[in-house]
Amino acid sequence: MSVTLDQVVPWGRSLKEYRHMFMLSNDELTSRILGVGDGPASFNSEMKGLGHTVISIDPIYLLSEKQIEQRIEKTYDTVISQVKQEPDNFVSDFFENPTHLGCYRLDTMRRFFQDYEMGKVQGRYLPLSLPKLSFADKQFDLAVCSHFLFLYSDQLSLDFHRESIQELCRVSREVRIFPLLTLNCRKSPYVSPIQSYFENMSFSVDISVVPYEFQKGGNEMMRIGRTT
Ligand SMILES: C[S@@+](CC[C@H](N)C(=O)[O-])C[C@H]1O[C@@H](n2cnc3c(N)ncnc32)[C@H](O)[C@@H]1O
Repeated sequence: MSVTLDQVVPWGRSLKEYRHMFMLSNDELTSRILGVGDGPASFNSEMKGLGHTVISIDPIYLLSEKQIEQRIEKTYDTVISQVKQEPDNFVSDFFENPTHLGCYRLDTMRRFFQDYEMGKVQGRYLPLSLPKLSFADKQFDLAVCSHFLFLYSDQLSLDFHRESIQELCRVSREVRIFPLLTLNCRKSPYVSPIQSYFENMSFSVDISVVPYEFQKGGNEMMRIGRTT
């Protein structure tokens, strides 16, 4: 079971949001970070501005700036009107209202575009896709995956999740995933089987409440690491 790019909304979050979603400490910002499915997030660009290096992977990086912009334009109104139509599904200390959310997102994605071409040349935006990556074992200290795994549980199978997380555990010492909800704001049915599977494989799996919530009830982040 795979997902086509059309099924996944190209939507980008900021460094501030990544810091909250993944509880990133100042020390962790200086570690070797892999951003998984980063899309048009400004995380990589803002980290670069602070003197840190993140490698972001996403199949969307096969596309040109213009092509990504066109995809965002195609989906932008739908996403914002969903938030307007279903206010009970969303809460946020970050955004005053859907209009503020829309402006914030566009600003975030603008920052991404300012960095995109240079970042590709520097190898910071790589067009790679889960479940298989071409990195060496333990090339990263931390892999963060925002709004891809678990969120698209209706489109992506449990096997895809298992295989992808296994691969992330191969290339990184620790993996963090946020949120644990599906697009319908329900807990992903894969959370429990993934937790059991990796605990049985001698990984530590921890679910923490984090200071970021946008989908109502979506304030939990999963950490998976080696116990030895
Ligand atoms: C909703 S966006 C989230 C973007 C960013 N992480 C954020 O939170 O702002 C999901 C991203 O997952 C990417 N994606 C789709 N299939 C993927 C795959 N097989 N491996 C890695 N990323 C994938 C999409 O292209 C899209 O950019």
